[in-house]
Amino acid sequence: MIDNEKVKKILYGGDYNPEQWPEEIWAEDMRLFKLAHIDVVTINVFSWAALQKDDEVYDFSKLDKIMELVQKNGLKVCLATSTAAHPAWMARKHPDILRTEHNGIRRKFGSRHNSCPNSPTYRKYSLALAEKLAQRYQDYDNIVAWHISNEYGGSCYCDNCEKAFRKWLQEKYGTIEELNRAWNMSFWGHTLYDFDDVVVPDLRSEEFEWDGVCRTNFQGISLDYNRFNSDSMLECFRLEYEAVKKYTPDIPVTTNLMGAYKVLDYQKWAKYMDFVSWDNYPAYDCFPAQAAFNHDLMRGLKQGKPFALMEQTPSVSNWHIYCKLKRPGVMRLWSYQAVAHGADTIMFFQMRRSIGACEKYHGAVIDHVGNENTRVFREITALGEELDKIGDVMLGARTKSQAAIVFDWDNWWAAEYSAGPSKLINYHQEVMQYYKTLNEQNISVDMVSVTDDLSEYKLVIAPLLYMCKDGFDEKIRSYVKQGGTFLTTYFSGYVEDHDLVVTGGYPGRLKDILGIWVEESDALPEDENNSFTYKGKTYPAGLLCDLLHLQGAEALASYEKDFYEGMPVLTMNEFGQGKSYYVAAHSNDEFYKDFLGELCKGLSIKPAASTPEGVEAAIRENENGSFLFLLNHRSGTANVIVEREGIDLISGKAYQPGDRLTLEKAGVAILHYK
Ligand code: GLA
Ligand code: ZN
Repeated sequence: MIDNEKVKKILYGGDYNPEQWPEEIWAEDMRLFKLAHIDVVTINVFSWAALQKDDEVYDFSKLDKIMELVQKNGLKVCLATSTAAHPAWMARKHPDILRTEHNGIRRKFGSRHNSCPNSPTYRKYSLALAEKLAQRYQDYDNIVAWHISNEYGGSCYCDNCEKAFRKWLQEKYGTIEELNRAWNMSFWGHTLYDFDDVVVPDLRSEEFEWDGVCRTNFQGISLDYNRFNSDSMLECFRLEYEAVKKYTPDIPVTTNLMGAYKVLDYQKWAKYMDFVSWDNYPAYDCFPAQAAFNHDLMRGLKQGKPFALMEQTPSVSNWHIYCKLKRPGVMRLWSYQAVAHGADTIMFFQMRRSIGACEKYHGAVIDHVGNENTRVFREITALGEELDKIGDVMLGARTKSQAAIVFDWDNWWAAEYSAGPSKLINYHQEVMQYYKTLNEQNISVDMVSVTDDLSEYKLVIAPLLYMCKDGFDEKIRSYVKQGGTFLTTYFSGYVEDHDLVVTGGYPGRLKDILGIWVEESDALPEDENNSFTYKGKTYPAGLLCDLLHLQGAEALASYEKDFYEGMPVLTMNEFGQGKSYYVAAHSNDEFYKDFLGELCKGLSIKPAASTPEGVEAAIRENENGSFLFLLNHRSGTANVIVEREGIDLISGKAYQPGDRLTLEKAGVAILHYK
């Protein structure tokens, strides 16, 4: 975890770039930070060019001053390593550091997140810089975390990556025969004779653009390239991790993640991070469950340990298609939403708005006007005061969920690389559908990986589990046998880890658990639907309609149209002590609400609180008691009837069961139950 011990409160601050400003302005920054109750700054995120002038020449003089400045002013530091954008001289002298794009074009100097993860130059110099920083600043006792690089991402297809990919494959598969088998290379006569025959699957090779999306001829190759690319960047992170740990073994290390970011397998990454931190930038038209989903996904990476909200904009971003302002109160509301879902740190990008380049119109604590007389500054200050008041009582609190949703990056990649059955197959959206349904009913959800322990959950949902990896079916099998309830959907169980189909009928390894056999699947265009009736209500069935046979399961509802009229669309299988449900098509919000609502009720999975629609409720617990967050996302005032005696940590008001608690628009209450 980030080191909250040093402040004993929810850390509050953000990305601070004093190197972009003349030194005369720094004192004013300090004054304004104090006013706003800021206690932590992330510094040195993009300073490589200033810190290293040549292969041999380093210059820390400015950073020394900044470190002294912030320490003198009582600020804690999240110290970044500056390796997310390489200096111009490095690109000129060592072009291997430049990335090659998916179309095979080698980039020139420019942009950021621009280094090839397998470039020997990048690895050598990023590691060296991280080490020098740790050595130089190891005695500062105000460093609360290391922030390695910044938002790792993208991919590279250069010759260095190709070479490294061959090595990665050799380690994974051992022999070329095994690789040929795993990738099914006898198809189209692609048999490889040697690992040197392997090429990166970019637009020059197996991948192509189709209808605006990247497709592949060989899912196995593309899938492995995704894994390899994620691993390559992870290796870069780990090199820097080790480098800073040499000198500062006790300072926790993180890198800022991006929620449901498809390119990197964060579940694997998190194993090597001391704590999870992430950047939350919902678009103006996001529904509340979208941010909640990401928070829970990020919390799940470390099995529920608190995370840091490393970045959010105080007011506006510069890169959304419409950079609509956060309405008054929304920054506060979304900050508490992060805390409600497990954050112990609230930070902004950025502290002072820059004057040039693409982020000059991105929101900041200090705006271009340069003083404290702005709406945004006042809102930041008010939240800062509240966080001071709340103090440390909630730190470390955990979320206890009885429902879990499985999320798996390999499955995400594989399901969406699949050529057919439908361009509408969207893993993230299907998982979101289930998540949103539960979240909107205030049912707490843990987002889990296929390697997490499931035994404590009453309900495990694995939407669109296209790839059922080795061993995961066994985990589900014993979970259900021992009394668990499992739910999965259409397009599940098709393939194993290499994207090779499991023969013997779909859903492959899950067939016995679900008691069904899916013979065919009908991909319906967006404007077409079948339908089914369940408990007297009729719902649509679309996207992909599985034509299935019962093999032990019971049909809860059946299709009502077309040549498969009468075939089951919703099934339940009693298996051991537990039950497995199969939802054979995509339906609408109402169906998920009704069906999951009933399922949770039957399993005595209780909502955190009963609230009007649009008021989110979530609970965290620690040794000081439990904390019920009530978050009003509605467009007006809302009333909640209090269920237990408690004190609102924000207003200080005491409530008795049956009392009415009124939340203004964007209002928040945190009821502390002892
Ligand atoms: C990301 C980056 C920051 C900044 C913000 C702007 O999160 O990490 O450096 O560019 O976006 O929204
Ligand atoms: Zn590369």
